[in-house]
Amino acid sequence: MKLRVSVIGTGYLGATHAACMSAMGFDVIGVDIDATKIELLSRGKVPFYEPGLEELLQQEIASGRLTFSTDFQAIKEADVHFICVGTPQSENSLAADMKYVDAALDAIAPICKPGSLVVGKSTVPVGTAARLRSKLLTINPKVDLAWNPEFLREGFAVEDTLHPNRLVVGVTTDEAENKLKAIYAKNLSENTPWVRADLPTSELVKVAANSFLATKISFINAMAEVCEAAGGDVTVLAKAIGYDPRIGSRFLQAGIGFGGGCLPKDIRAFMARAGELGADQALEFLREIDSINLRARQRVIELVRKDLSDNLTGKKITVLGAAFKPDSDDVRDSPALDIAVQIAAAGAQVTIHDPKAIAPAKKRFPALGFAEDVEVALKGADLVLHLTEWKQYRELDPVKVKALVASPIIIDGRNALDREAWIAAGWKFRALGRS
Ligand code: UDX
Repeated sequence: MKLRVSVIGTGYLGATHAACMSAMGFDVIGVDIDATKIELLSRGKVPFYEPGLEELLQQEIASGRLTFSTDFQAIKEADVHFICVGTPQSENSLAADMKYVDAALDAIAPICKPGSLVVGKSTVPVGTAARLRSKLLTINPKVDLAWNPEFLREGFAVEDTLHPNRLVVGVTTDEAENKLKAIYAKNLSENTPWVRADLPTSELVKVAANSFLATKISFINAMAEVCEAAGGDVTVLAKAIGYDPRIGSRFLQAGIGFGGGCLPKDIRAFMARAGELGADQALEFLREIDSINLRARQRVIELVRKDLSDNLTGKKITVLGAAFKPDSDDVRDSPALDIAVQIAAAGAQVTIHDPKAIAPAKKRFPALGFAEDVEVALKGADLVLHLTEWKQYRELDPVKVKALVASPIIIDGRNALDREAWIAAGWKFRALGRS
């Protein structure tokens, strides 16, 4: 029998998951309380930038397998329900705000058909799955709940969902595991590693993975600080240690650090949850990881002051990049945008360029200066800050850019530009972790 799938919450994760489940051949209904989002998705429009997703969405809508609705009753016939709502940081604490997850479960629990399986994909504090499962079973004893964390990266969301590097399922019964095996049959036929875990372990896998990644980035940024003090070069250091297969070269790009909708809030929520469980000492190091990460932003601002003046009033600074990383228009907790905001607050006249993220950045900070055209953004700059490593910026010709600016000073906050080429073109070139 062909399984029918529902996806609750059609944000970044849900919209991608719905389109990919449909591409795997399932009939999929995506539901959300946000009518604007549903209206856009129904017309084949993705409300954010994610390479390849819009094309896939349109293809799947045209196939007839994928539909969207604001009416939760539409999930009634589905066999598997994926909860994909957000768990942002709470307003008043480090903990994750669980109101969307709870609301999603409350909405579907009474109407799930007997024998169906609710599958949480959202990143949640450990213990949530067990709590939701007992709540669900009280309301609707003929259904079950499993957890299946998602590891997709923004910018590679479609690829990561269609071809994940592993599948982790937290289950309490063989039936639940078998149903998930049927859902992911295609991936299993491609030999994707399959890890069966209990509910708490499956929840922990996600936050542990993100904590490890955050630690790797902050480790190399700490090395960058030491390199600066000792006259070393962190890019060479990263390359050299990365050849050790036990260390590996990925996620060792020193710069202004990590941001986005996951890493920062996930490590904070993990610390908060460990505290509740009495294991706060175990995650004390994550506080340091967070501090190193936030310090990288201050180090860039110090470099700006060193190169221009302590008083930034009226200085024209061009910021290249607003998104938290390239190939994304996501500005949540973006280090680039945070630095832009701080130097603007210090009196600088800031002009921000980004190939995709100007609209979301403007929405958050309407008082900042923006330019759609990179050459316009660069005109008359006293200093250029390269803060999100878009390909477009690596392809800039330093000779041509020099003719646009007032003074050729550039700070590469991502260690991604060709330093020799910029210096050869007559630029004063600064970077984090490179003397
Ligand atoms: C992350 C995880 O990678 C993903 O598995 C999880 O599902 C969600 O969180 P994402 O937020 O899309 O994905 O971004 P990621 O590619 O991990 O980058 C996070 C941040 O770290 C970005 O701001 C990026 O610029 C920064 N980064 C990454 C570095 O500063 N240096 C690096 O070497 C790598």
